[in-house]
This record gives sequence, C-alpha cells and structure tokens, in this order.
Amino acid sequence: MIDGCGRTIDHLRLSLTDYCNLACRYCVPDDAAPCGQMIDEEFAFQVVRWLSTRHGIRYLRLTGGEPLMYAPLHRLTRRLAELGTLREITLTTNGQALGHQAESLAAAGLLRVNVSLDTLRADRFSRVTRGGDLDHTLCGIKAAVRAGLAPVKINVVAQRSFNDNEIANIAEWGLSHGCVVRFLEVMPIGPLAHVADKHLVPASEILERLSERFTLRAIPGSLGQPATDYAVSGNGMRGVVGIIAATTRPFCDRCRRLRITSRGRIVACIHDGTGFDLAEFWDGSELCVHDADEVLSRALRGKPKEGPRRQSLAMVSLGG
Ligand code: 5AD
Repeated sequence: MIDGCGRTIDHLRLSLTDYCNLACRYCVPDDAAPCGQMIDEEFAFQVVRWLSTRHGIRYLRLTGGEPLMYAPLHRLTRRLAELGTLREITLTTNGQALGHQAESLAAAGLLRVNVSLDTLRADRFSRVTRGGDLDHTLCGIKAAVRAGLAPVKINVVAQRSFNDNEIANIAEWGLSHGCVVRFLEVMPIGPLAHVADKHLVPASEILERLSERFTLRAIPGSLGQPATDYAVSGNGMRGVVGIIAATTRPFCDRCRRLRITSRGRIVACIHDGTGFDLAEFWDGSELCVHDADEVLSRALRGKPKEGPRRQSLAMVSLGG
C-alpha cells in the first residue's frame, strides 16, 4: 500500500474497544461519555484478512481503549496468527490485567507487548490513571517477560510536574527487569491537546535526565524510526532505552501506519480523526471488499503529509 505522499503503509493499529479500565488524565477527557464499544470479532478478523492479503499489511498492533478488556481477544489473536499473512502481532496495554493473560496470549500467537507505566509511585499511579493499581501493572510486566513476550517495551509518557523527576528511576526499573524502556513526548491529541502544551518534556530534556545516571550511545539507524534508541549502561545495568519525540520531531515522513477504530472507521493519520466508515460495508457476516477497497484508497490519498493537528477524537477512541 502506498499513500498519496509515496509512503509505504504496512502497519495497522486495530482498536478492539474504546473501553478502558483506567482513565489516564492525558488520554481520557474529564467529561468523556462512558464508552464500551467492542468491535465485532468476525468484522475485525475479516478486516485484517482483507488488509493483509490484499494490501500488504504485515505488522498488526492491537490497541484500545484497553485491549485486554476485549473478551474474544485470545481467540481473535489465534485466528489472526493462523492467517499466516502477518509478520508480527503485538499489543499495547496498561498492564492491569496482564498478569493472568500474558501466558495464554503468547500461546495464542502474540509476539510482544508494550505496557504503559508512567510512574513507580503508587499514589501518583492511582492519580494519573484515575484509580489504577501500580502493583497490578508491575506484576503484568513481569508476567509478560516470563511468558517471552519480548522484548517487553515499557511506554512512559513524560509529563512536567508529574513524572519528570522519575525518568531515570523508571529506566532503571525497566532495565533491571529485562525490558526496553521508551519515553514518549506527550502529543496534542483531540480535546486534551492542552495537556501537551502545559506538560511537554522535550526529548532533549529526557535525554539529559537519563544521562545523569547512565552512559548512552545512540544506536545507528534508529533515529526517529519512530523511536531513537540508545544503548545504555550504568549502575551495573545494560540495555536499551528509546525516546519518541512525536511532538518536537514528528516522524510523519516515515509514518507507515493506518488505524481502524473500534467503531469500524479507517483513520489514516493520528492527527486527523475524520476517518472513513468501513462498518457500512459489513452486512453482519461478510465484508464487501470491493467497496472497502474504494474507501481505503480514498483514505490513503487523503493521508496528510504532516499531521494537521486538528484531531477531534480523544486518544482513548482513536487507539494508542
Ligand atoms: N501523548 C503521548 N502518548 C500518549 N498515549 C496516550 N495518550 C498520549 C498522548 N497524548 C500513550 C499511552 C500508551 C500509548 C498507546 O500511547 O500512554 O502508552
């Protein structure tokens, strides 16, 4: 698949539900209507089959909301793995329910997980997630490592006056548990765009905080792909940390992604939430690929060169 700007699109982010058992302050608006849209399992399966067999999608990331809250997740993962068309099926989760699901997900064909972890302090964790339990996520990460969902990547959204004084600590915890730790600049998304204006910690500063504790060496070729990865050592530890500078150094020219929301809309750019409806080509049992092809081609032609930053959907609806 080639979009209107000549970029190859081979990564799909499929949001299974817009329901999340947490409600992180930078992801879920204060006044968000309660949501609980679950994608139809057969629809999801046929959409991925269509995109991977006819359009070259090779990398699938399951997201939400919280994908571990999607009841048929394990069966869907197995069916998608058995298609044999995908190189990778990965998943992004808040980790709260990962402890008891990691092993069976690995058995179903899931290759890796990314787990969000913004703080190691239980009180802060509960505050930023509006009620989450830090221990559940830490146990989930350890279970994922044991299950071989490796490398387990920890996603840390760096936020001023919240966790900017924990950056090196979180890196250290992650490395000591065999994870890759990735620090994300907060992005201006939808109704919470102002959070990025107020709390952005730029990549340069994240790097400085890490350098105070570790020796970092940029891994050649990784610059902004979209993470810039560093080999780190120090404090008796070794490993990899990454920085994703999506706000100060957008990687739109290297974007290879397409998104499908849990409501069955194709969203070609994270910053442009208009989208195209696919669900209207689903009759309850069969996706009409002829009509779907047409709408896909419109979505690809319309994928902007750079994010217009006028997203109206919140991240929780969009799929992280
Ligand atoms: N900016 C950056 N990252 C975000 N995430 C959610 N909202 C934002 C935002 N505004 C992160 C989550 C998760 C990943 C899917 O995206 O923390 O790790």
